[in-house]
Amino acid sequence: MIGDNHKIELRVLRDEDIPLLNEWLGKEYIKKWFGEKEQWLNEIEQRNGSYDFITHFIVYCNDRKIGYGLHADCFYVKDMKDGDHDFSELYGEVTEANHTFEIGYLIGEEEYLAKGIGKRMIRLLEEKIIELGGKEIAADPLEENLISIKTLLSNGFKKKKDGDYRKTLD
Ligand SMILES: CC(C)(COP(=O)(O)OP(=O)(O)OC[C@H]1O[C@@H](n2cnc3c(N)ncnc32)[C@H](O)[C@@H]1OP(=O)(O)O)[C@@H](O)C(=O)NCCC(=O)NCCS
Repeated sequence: MIGDNHKIELRVLRDEDIPLLNEWLGKEYIKKWFGEKEQWLNEIEQRNGSYDFITHFIVYCNDRKIGYGLHADCFYVKDMKDGDHDFSELYGEVTEANHTFEIGYLIGEEEYLAKGIGKRMIRLLEEKIIELGGKEIAADPLEENLISIKTLLSNGFKKKKDGDYRKTLD
């Protein structure tokens, strides 16, 4: 475990972070779950335009860039078109903005895997969503992604159905 003396932080992604994220998205153990990187990079490029409902973060461990996280307002996600996902089926019931937020996360530097950082990243994303006034967090891991699902369950998420995990915020 990486102890509390390791400072884990989220900072909003900037243009200069994109080449590193591009590299991470190309790694086999990430690509396997994230799919082709073009869609992700496109959403990032348009983060101040048509994808402004997604906020992207770089994760730092003691000031070193080690990962990436995002939260996205499901009220708008449900209208997104993505080959792998039917977001309208997942989030069709979300009838108001600023209520349910989907999260995404990855550790891009292998030596930081399996040290408890994933769990802490999810808690930090949760804090950001609470600050916004969100009421629920969602994650849509593939059922084969056992580590991601473990990480969600140990952060208090409950399975709603295959590939749909939620946590109510109070
Ligand atoms: C998912 C991910 C962020 C988890 O982060 P992590 O720091 O490696 O995980 P943690 O150390 O916080 O461990 C979280 C849980 O997974 C378990 N775990 C971690 N690595 C594991 C491994 N290699 N094998 C089995 N279990 C593992 C831990 O035991 C812990 O479970 P527990 O609380 O029940 O004990 C990281 O594995 C990753 O970046 N994966 C690739 C990208 C990805 O899949 N993102 C999610 C897409 S939905």
